[in-house]
Amino acid sequence: MALLPILRYPDPRLHTRAQPVGRVDAGIRKLVADMAETMYAAPGIGLAATQVNVHQRLLVLDISEDKSQLQVFINPEILSRDGECTGEEGCLSVPGIYETVQRSERVRVRALDRDGQPFETDATGLLAVCLQHEIDHLNGKVFVEYLSRLKQSRIQAKLAKQARITA
Ligand code: NI
Repeated sequence: MALLPILRYPDPRLHTRAQPVGRVDAGIRKLVADMAETMYAAPGIGLAATQVNVHQRLLVLDISEDKSQLQVFINPEILSRDGECTGEEGCLSVPGIYETVQRSERVRVRALDRDGQPFETDATGLLAVCLQHEIDHLNGKVFVEYLSRLKQSRIQAKLAKQARITA
């Protein structure tokens, strides 16, 4: 396994629309393992392939307290959505920034698991929010893009300053 570098907003590669995974083979399983390791090390609760500059429709997440329940969604599709909720979100590609975003409260998602088997799941709460956030990444969208232009430029300035300090 290997830790993968995570792209940072406003890297334009974060705006790439990912392509469907054709076949769940050894290469995809290696990518899943590396992405999981990268997510746990960060630490984060979700990671989309887009964030590690791989433009295939694949995401990993683990919202469990003890980080023991890795979930893998390959070619995820939102079949239906219901309700509304707002909550504070963060992102490994936008370090140190937490902002309130409006999402659907419940989503039904279809995907392939890490063995390439199709499944469907009804997600609510944190899982629903996390899935919407990560699927947005696969569509080239970062959560701060739901905010006003002014807020986005303030965040970009703050991140640029952070990068200078840590460089
Ligand atoms: Ni994110």
